[in-house]
Amino acid sequence: MKNFAILISGRGSNMENLLRCYQRGELLARPVVVLSNTPKAPGLERAERYSIPTYAISWKNRERAESAAIEICQKFQVQFVVLAGFMKILTPLFLEHFPHKIINIHPSLLPAFPGKDAVKRALEYGVRFSGCTTHFVSAEVDRGPIILQALVPVWEEDTVETLARRILRQEHRILPKTVNLYSADALELCHGRIVRIFWDRLPVFYRKGCRRP
Ligand code: GRF
Repeated sequence: MKNFAILISGRGSNMENLLRCYQRGELLARPVVVLSNTPKAPGLERAERYSIPTYAISWKNRERAESAAIEICQKFQVQFVVLAGFMKILTPLFLEHFPHKIINIHPSLLPAFPGKDAVKRALEYGVRFSGCTTHFVSAEVDRGPIILQALVPVWEEDTVETLARRILRQEHRILPKTVNLYSADALELCHGRIVRIFWDRLPVFYRKGCRRP
């Protein structure tokens, strides 16, 4: 079983969902540490309920922060990293330490609406469908190879809150599935950015409810 770290900046619902999935035996990898770039992240308290070690690292000096994060990851023998609402841009220092081993979840159908306020911008743009994307993290923000996506319709009466809530439900579905695919070595990168998924490498139990997106 691979060990992984979860990096957060805020409320941590994706993080909690992963911890819950792990508790239920639905995860093929083991979350071993939660890191936040701020002690104020409500997700830290949520994590403590699951008795997982948590660390808040000041991100004022990026290089120092990333070195500290790497050190903590080494201490916990972290093999890959999940960014679950982590709002800092990682530099090559961290990225090169975990090449193609960092997974992010983003609340839009990338490559549309990368960066901040993705739900608001999708709504203001007038799209009929939005959704969420899991992808490997590369140097360009929200531009790394796409792993899974889920489609969410946009209703005329939607507000940022209602749409974000519906997208979040799908995030909670595709992020654990992505972690399982990664852990089962079922993701292979071809031609630089195309991710090939070998669904049959996922043990049958974990495939249950795994609809191909
Ligand atoms: C999610 O919408 C995620 O896609 C984005 O930040 C939000 C984090 O939510 N990157 P939570 O902290 O997991 O509840």
